[in-house]
Amino acid sequence: MHENIHAPVISIRLGNKEDRKSILDICRLSFRRVYTFIAAQNLKSNPHTIIAEVDGKVAGFLVSKTILLKNQKLGYIFWLATHPDYRRHGIALRLMSSIIDEFRTDGIRNVFIAVERGNKIGEDLFSKCGFYRMSRKDFRKRFGIWSAWILYSRFLLAPHEMIFYNYLK
Ligand SMILES: CC(C)(COP(=O)(O)OP(=O)(O)OC[C@H]1O[C@@H](n2cnc3c(N)ncnc32)[C@H](O)[C@@H]1OP(=O)(O)O)[C@@H](O)C(=O)NCCC(=O)NCCS
Repeated sequence: MHENIHAPVISIRLGNKEDRKSILDICRLSFRRVYTFIAAQNLKSNPHTIIAEVDGKVAGFLVSKTILLKNQKLGYIFWLATHPDYRRHGIALRLMSSIIDEFRTDGIRNVFIAVERGNKIGEDLFSKCGFYRMSRKDFRKRFGIWSAWILYSRFLLAPHEMIFYNYLK
């Protein structure tokens, strides 16, 4: 178990293969079992991962990817979790702000996040970061039917998941 801490010093770095075990431990404590299984498969392909470290320990992680659509790059965040011992210390906000900076630097404006329906904490967190829920209908209106179809197939969404969206200024 991690120590109980009050004001942790958080550092953000790129993830690597050595982080997999810690990431999967956090998944087990944060998601339903099926998601940990999917994460384990997904991590084998070395997706882009950023890590929040506290005292040299992995306290949180965020996995994202870039999707290319009509020569335009879009950002997709599909895993984000903080170890239960480190929650409510701003770790998820730091990870979000770090990936948003990265996306901006990379010229990415359209960013999407998959969230399970009923995940109120996730919704609050993403709203705080400027994201809002985009229904499939609004999605089609904004991006067109064809692009919406392509994007949804790239998101690999389960029926109980929804999309949050932000246009980075
Ligand atoms: C959602 C999650 C990543 C938040 O991590 P965290 O490091 O504790 O979040 P932060 O401390 O950065 O909190 C940021 C904001 O999120 C919201 N939030 C976080 N935890 C919350 C809670 N328990 N209740 C209500 N709002 C909460 C708040 O708006 C908070 O801002 P505030 O502290 O100023 O009120 C974490 O609870 C978690 O891993 N949950 C399980 C996995 C998950 O749901 N991931 C997100 C969807 S993929």
